[in-house]
Amino acid sequence: MSKSKKLKFPKDFLWGSSVSSYQVEGNVNNCDWSEKFPARTACNYYLNYEHYFDLAKELNQNVHRFSLSWSRIQPAEGKFDRKAILHYRKMLLALEKRGIKPMVTIWHWTLPLWMSEKGGWENSKFPEYFEQYTRFVVEELDDLVDFWLTTNEPMIYTSLAYILGKFPPQKNNLLVVPKVFYNFVKTHKKAYQAIHDISENAKVGVAQNLSFVDAYNKNSTLNKTVASAFNFFRNRLFLELTKNYQDFLGINYYFHDRIKFSPFSFPPLKIKNKDKEVSDLGWEIYPEGLYYVLKDLKKYNLPIYITENGLADKGDKKRAKFITEHLKQIHRAIDDGVDVKGYMHWSLIDNFEWADGFGPRFGLVEMNYKTMGTKVRESARGYAEVCKNNSLF
Ligand code: FCB
Repeated sequence: MSKSKKLKFPKDFLWGSSVSSYQVEGNVNNCDWSEKFPARTACNYYLNYEHYFDLAKELNQNVHRFSLSWSRIQPAEGKFDRKAILHYRKMLLALEKRGIKPMVTIWHWTLPLWMSEKGGWENSKFPEYFEQYTRFVVEELDDLVDFWLTTNEPMIYTSLAYILGKFPPQKNNLLVVPKVFYNFVKTHKKAYQAIHDISENAKVGVAQNLSFVDAYNKNSTLNKTVASAFNFFRNRLFLELTKNYQDFLGINYYFHDRIKFSPFSFPPLKIKNKDKEVSDLGWEIYPEGLYYVLKDLKKYNLPIYITENGLADKGDKKRAKFITEHLKQIHRAIDDGVDVKGYMHWSLIDNFEWADGFGPRFGLVEMNYKTMGTKVRESARGYAEVCKNNSLF
């Protein structure tokens, strides 16, 4: 390999990858996504999880992040499905058998139909419904779970579902945003408390999508002020309101938001990146941003896990370098005293990328959706070495 200096990671650092239920499980037919955005059999992970856990093990991973399907567990109001919860227990036991720690997301973007028919996140009783569901799953599964994440990316979901109209319920209505946002804060706090009522030692967080924000024109005070306001709403507000209810910070890092502001153009605020290198989805690859994001989180004095980081790269041309460069930046932050304790790549396998369907390929492992065959990508082998050695190079 290269002559670069060996970069050791802290003892007991966790290495792994992430998935979410709707994107991989297959045959979820009673949620708010299933009619308009059917994921069909997806990766058949619900039935074939042992195969995927074997792959994670073969790739030397010791943590796996996955999510529970609320619509399987609670198919109707007041009705909990024992078979579904037992299924997730079996999955957790299968991870334990392989020495892989689970990080479980209670809600990753899909609602049971009955809940969405009641208005979903706009319903003022949403936090109470979510608390009921949380209590049920935590009582049933907590003895096998190392880390809980209540929700995934509150801000991204709110903007895609209620401002940009891309995700169910596909609204373009700024007026409902404060209510939805307030419900996210309240829901997380209630769920945090419910989990701790049941389990004193539980470790609870949220997977937050944090971007690195800077100003397009660094000489303009106006541009810099607008960029910091954007940063506050995009990356800080939720964290500030919930920081006393998080035992660790879960960070999903994908984006560089270089903010251009001009009151005379429409829209006045634009995200203008240099885009020297981009993924198949056109997302700018900017590893250095992760360092700045992490440095900024030091003040919260909480352990940090990277709960997602990855790229769509069908040809596997950029993934190896992407991983190396991001890990270098994480290492640099650790050297500066930031308490990063784990890295989970998005994703273990190619999967259903929400409104973008099956096109984007985020997997360390390639999926053939026709045959359901899997093939470990070359970049995954390199990452497996890092996981094995607990060091880069
Ligand atoms: C994140 C989502 C995850 C996946 C990646 C690419 O925002 O949490 O489910 O779609 O993006």
